[in-house]
Amino acid sequence: MQTHQFDAIIVGAGGAGLMAALYASKGGANVAVVSKLYPTRSHTGTAQGGIGAALGNHEPDNPLWHAYDTVKGGDYLADQNAAKVLAENAIDAVIELEHMGLPFDRTPEGRISQRRFGGHTSNFGEKPVRRACHAADRTGHMILQTLYQQCIKNEVKFFDEYHVVDVLMNNGACVGVVAVQLGTGELHVFHGKATLFATGGWGKIWQVTSNAHSLTGDGAAITFRRGVPLQDMEFFQFHPTGIYKMGILITEGVRGEGGVLLNRHGERFMEKYAPRIKDLASRDVVSRAIYLEIRDGNGIQGKDYVYLDVRPETVNRYLAEAGETRRVTGEEIEKKLPDILDFCRVYLGVDPVKEPMPIQPTAHYAMGGIPTNVDAEVVIDENWTVLPGMYAAGECACVSCHGANRLGTNSLVDLVVFGRRGGMKIAEYVKHADLIPLPANPTAEIEAEFKRIRSSKGKSKPGELRGIMQKVMMDYVGVFREGAGIQQAIDTVQELRERYQTDLSLDDQGYKFNTDLIETWELGCLLDLAQVTAKSALARTESRGAHSREDFKERDDQNWLVHTLAFSKLAGPYQPGALHLDLNTNKKVDLSLAETDPRFAPKERVY
Ligand code: FUM
Repeated sequence: MQTHQFDAIIVGAGGAGLMAALYASKGGANVAVVSKLYPTRSHTGTAQGGIGAALGNHEPDNPLWHAYDTVKGGDYLADQNAAKVLAENAIDAVIELEHMGLPFDRTPEGRISQRRFGGHTSNFGEKPVRRACHAADRTGHMILQTLYQQCIKNEVKFFDEYHVVDVLMNNGACVGVVAVQLGTGELHVFHGKATLFATGGWGKIWQVTSNAHSLTGDGAAITFRRGVPLQDMEFFQFHPTGIYKMGILITEGVRGEGGVLLNRHGERFMEKYAPRIKDLASRDVVSRAIYLEIRDGNGIQGKDYVYLDVRPETVNRYLAEAGETRRVTGEEIEKKLPDILDFCRVYLGVDPVKEPMPIQPTAHYAMGGIPTNVDAEVVIDENWTVLPGMYAAGECACVSCHGANRLGTNSLVDLVVFGRRGGMKIAEYVKHADLIPLPANPTAEIEAEFKRIRSSKGKSKPGELRGIMQKVMMDYVGVFREGAGIQQAIDTVQELRERYQTDLSLDDQGYKFNTDLIETWELGCLLDLAQVTAKSALARTESRGAHSREDFKERDDQNWLVHTLAFSKLAGPYQPGALHLDLNTNKKVDLSLAETDPRFAPKERVY
């Protein structure tokens, strides 16, 4: 075992981790980034359509309108102080990225080009607004490259392909992490004053997902096992447009450029569900509409998909109908959406300039996660008690600026805004904080767990367990849910957890790049998070945002304008077979904007 010492340890090298590393190091901290992937392979790189900021480069815009859309899109569960910080800081963050060299697309006058995205409007819901700043359909990729270059320039130390598998606590504070070096199988201890988790989401719980194989919720699972609660886990977003069966993301930017959703009758069905902003309603609304169309037999050929049509003749017909003067050409679509066209041509054999794309909703984004305040400090109860030395930002964190449903483009805003604030806070903290010693035998528990997995002699292949979990979560804890189905998912996941504990079968007992071992360990994280998600979903007896209960169809502000906090009763040594949860619903939603401006008060959402 090797031990490394730094002021700050950043776990994860996506946008949030890199931004935090950059700002912590700019503030004078000695920073290590520990990542299971090579940084430029992080999932931020797949974010396509844009980053929202009220720059007003095409038409009037205002950060307060952005905050309003965020709160409304989140079905009023967003903490309004966090939504305000997000919208206000977005402007500086985007301009800063531009100054770092990010190659945004440009307007003819040379300003950053902006496109429409779901749920983003001007003047408190009046009409769609162009707020998403974009670099073709590769915005996340460009952010990742830009921030990585800046971190290298700032001499941040990178530990690539070091997979963090445990978090170390002592005296009520976080003192670092344990990681496996993937190339050797050796354990490394990273000891520091501050540790920030930026490990992304856990879309691999579901069968159809836009998430990469690496999105297994490691950071959320290991902190949960050590006593940190998970907040609002019942809210997981299904993006309306994933490639049929494969789940690969087709950016909302397609609809931002004028693309429309059509059922098997060629009907633009969003006119029924969101008469004012139609295909650009928020994602929960659009995903439910697609499911309802399919349920009514209106899927293409009666199957479980619909069409997304961005052919110039279709787009121009609807633009003309809406009285808009803008027209699009095939060349423009090629220029603005090059990756989307490539994905469809390669994976589907469909050319979107000539044919509509078959799509279905795809598990995309965790609104819930490790609870934090607006400075990315982890909080562990309804009184906002800060856990010294632990921070989280990006998708694994729940600040909660997205509430029950995130608006498109706000994930990129979230990671740069709260990654930056976390980095600044860490720089300040490590100047004064003492280095707390490591606990005794810091690797003992994780070593024992790896030994158990490596030497298991049962019959259950991890891939089989994963497949069963993904199907049951897709069927019963997806876009629509109801009590009996959720309970079935809970029971099935519990059986899988027991088989995981007693009956695993691995092919590879080795140490070097043992992906069999690592994927099995990741499956343990997914099973924990699936169980927390399903139990939180069962407890919330209302429908709100991405949590749509068929047996409790109404939103219930009287009883449920609160966050869910799930605690592991067995926090401490990891006992994967036995997950006992306490659910606490005493954490109130911050309604500070509504206190002075009635437009922010919870009301029925009309699109
Ligand atoms: O549709 C998209 O381009 C996805 C963006 C997002 O999730 O924010």
